[in-house]
Amino acid sequence: MKTLTLTRPDDWHVHVRNGAVLTTVLPHTARQFARAIIMPNLKPPVATVAQAQAYREEILQAIPDGRDFTPLMTLYLTAATSEAEIKLAAEADFIHAVKLYPAGATTHSDAGVGNIGQIYPLLAALERHGLPLLVHGEVSDDDCDIFDRERVFIERHLNAITKEFPALRLVLEHVTTSEAVQFVEAASANVAATITPQHLLFNRNAILAGGIRPHYYCLPVLKRERHRLALLKAATSGNPKFFLGTDSAPHLTNLKETACGCAGCFSAPAALELYAEAFEQVGALDKLEGFASFYGADFYRLPRNSGTVTLAKSAWQIPTVYGDEDVVITPLKSGETLSWKML
Ligand code: NCD
Ligand code: ZN
Repeated sequence: MKTLTLTRPDDWHVHVRNGAVLTTVLPHTARQFARAIIMPNLKPPVATVAQAQAYREEILQAIPDGRDFTPLMTLYLTAATSEAEIKLAAEADFIHAVKLYPAGATTHSDAGVGNIGQIYPLLAALERHGLPLLVHGEVSDDDCDIFDRERVFIERHLNAITKEFPALRLVLEHVTTSEAVQFVEAASANVAATITPQHLLFNRNAILAGGIRPHYYCLPVLKRERHRLALLKAATSGNPKFFLGTDSAPHLTNLKETACGCAGCFSAPAALELYAEAFEQVGALDKLEGFASFYGADFYRLPRNSGTVTLAKSAWQIPTVYGDEDVVITPLKSGETLSWKML
């Protein structure tokens, strides 16, 4: 059987939620990844070092016995965040970044930043302290077409931010367009990007052609095929600015299969397998280890993992749902056959 062995990978962007959803989803991430950057968009948001510490404790409790997994915590940047809190975050060894959500851009982003100009003093503090800024790069204006929101965010905000704060370490999260790829490639070595499995595998037809498929709906929304091809090229290029971040974003099935469904794809149960499928499409399985296991750690200035994981070319059917009677979550590619399986 064909197999692929990689240094243990990390997930540089994941939503694990809290409460019963946390205990349902975390074992999947902890099985595949050694570490993960934990997104702070809970309700209320994880906006202080004390809240991040409490959330970290809750996550640690949910790790199955015997699993070696480290949550890397982040703070949610709000208009009320102080420079003192950023200093505290930079001093806390368990906090690795601060996340910027433009208000209204995505799930639980109402506490996010309305006026990006107003947070420049905070960006200066992040730059000074060397703490990375993770960016949800979409404008949220009603009059901006949803398929243009990432490109417009880059033009309107990111060009200015990287110019004003050249030493700021910045990750443009879950990039979805050729314009985002070009922006990251042209920026300094302080700027990187994560790429999700769904944006490497699917274009917007997956959501809308032949019927509306809510489990393919996430934000930023899937784009045209030419954008998918640009992302696949970037991910498999060996350029260390592009690394793995699943953006696995579980929502209860009934909250996605409804008149106004939530944004987010739950990819954690088969994340590595999905990436392997995408890399194999372009004959680039030899580039998966750098993308999944090296470049993110290097960017975050953390040691690369020891140990390995092995995938086998062995077809299996992903369950239609995960959870129990109280928590039902539909995974990406629910009920479909995957060609790689993590052993
Ligand atoms: C994320 C969520 O559900 O928390 N949803 C998504 O579609 N990606 C939020 C986010 O990362 O935008
Ligand atoms: Zn996300």
